[in-house]
Amino acid sequence: MTIASGGNDPARGSNEASISGHCFGDPSFEPKILAILCNWCTYSAADAAGSAHSVYPPNLHIVRVMCSGRVDPSLILKALRGGMDGVLICGCHPGDCHYINGNHKTAFRIPMVKRVVSQYGIAPERIRLEWISAAEANRFVAVAKEMTEQIRDLGPVSRTIR
Ligand code: FES
Repeated sequence: MTIASGGNDPARGSNEASISGHCFGDPSFEPKILAILCNWCTYSAADAAGSAHSVYPPNLHIVRVMCSGRVDPSLILKALRGGMDGVLICGCHPGDCHYINGNHKTAFRIPMVKRVVSQYGIAPERIRLEWISAAEANRFVAVAKEMTEQIRDLGPVSRTIR
């Protein structure tokens, strides 16, 4: 079996290499994911999911911010270099930001941050940006599950940093 991810693309500079015949997906590995959620949308969705007793992986370590635009790129780098295996940033849908264009700034910054982490040998897939409104609790749960599985497949970040 070949693990295929953007982290395998030499053009991106990641050293999370493709290994034929092996699977990084260790079912016993529990990834640590920093989830930075906008107060006005996704944090409420996560809260609603909890209130509805929806089950989502406990791997997410949630931090609430007032706007996704407040997420400094250096914080993402620090989290990944500090042992978080993935970082999920969630904000209001385009046009719904309470601070007019905070999420536009986030949409601009995240691809840049992905390019930077590639230079450190970290697969850019470890960073994910999603727009999830307060009414989308089910979507938040789905994203949390998807990302946890994706990071589980990538393995711990500590062994990938150059
Ligand atoms: S207020 Fe939610 S992304 Fe700006």
